[in-house]
Amino acid sequence: MGEVNLLDMYPVADRPIEERAKTLTEEVRAVAREYGREFFDGDRLYGYGGYRYDGRWQKVVARLREHYGLDDDAAVLDIGCAKGFLLYDFRQAMPGATLAGVDVSEYAIEHAIDDVKPYLQVASADVLPYADDSFDLVLSISTIHNLPREACKQALREIERVKKPGGHAFVTVDAWRNDVERDRLMKWMLTAYTFMHVDEWVELFEEVGYTGDYYWFIA
Ligand SMILES: C[S@@+](CC[C@H](N)C(=O)[O-])C[C@H]1O[C@@H](n2cnc3c(N)ncnc32)[C@H](O)[C@@H]1O
Repeated sequence: MGEVNLLDMYPVADRPIEERAKTLTEEVRAVAREYGREFFDGDRLYGYGGYRYDGRWQKVVARLREHYGLDDDAAVLDIGCAKGFLLYDFRQAMPGATLAGVDVSEYAIEHAIDDVKPYLQVASADVLPYADDSFDLVLSISTIHNLPREACKQALREIERVKKPGGHAFVTVDAWRNDVERDRLMKWMLTAYTFMHVDEWVELFEEVGYTGDYYWFIA
């Protein structure tokens, strides 16, 4: 288990933090947490402001493949897969891979990219619809912090359960390393229920027996 930034090839978004802080209310958060059209394809106030495929995960796939030495027929699960963009780019790079994705959002799965839709299911990260020891690589990008603490812990246990012995996992979560980053996250954070200092995350990973890798979303 270790801290490693496997998203270093992913474009860094422009974050108008002070602007968002002025409009962010609990009502806005409640709409975002429905993970419906508003969150993905509605106004930027509620989420992405348009979640569209643009190939940005291609370099991330290459990075993951190399880092973990994945075989061409590896089994890969993406938890919080949204419209399946990351899995689509896996499919392009590794046509022989076995792909699976879950997301709690019916809207996202309904509007998923057609090529990977058959591999996606609506399910929550803390109750994965897969057998033990199923995947060579389990990914969860910016997702498990959206569960309350106990469910987030259960999601990490689920990752361990469905990961093959000798397989790999990588998660990213909302976190901070100092007070400035904490303040920025509090102003930016829309949907998360579980967010903490990076050291506390590491303690939580150890507490639940998570053996995978991790990195941080720092606002
Ligand atoms: C910030 S988005 C990240 C989407 C995608 N992983 C990415 O990086 O582009 C968070 C995702 O988590 C999903 N999500 C939220 N709660 C979830 C849960 N309990 N189980 C599975 N997915 C969940 C949302 O629907 C959304 O697709």
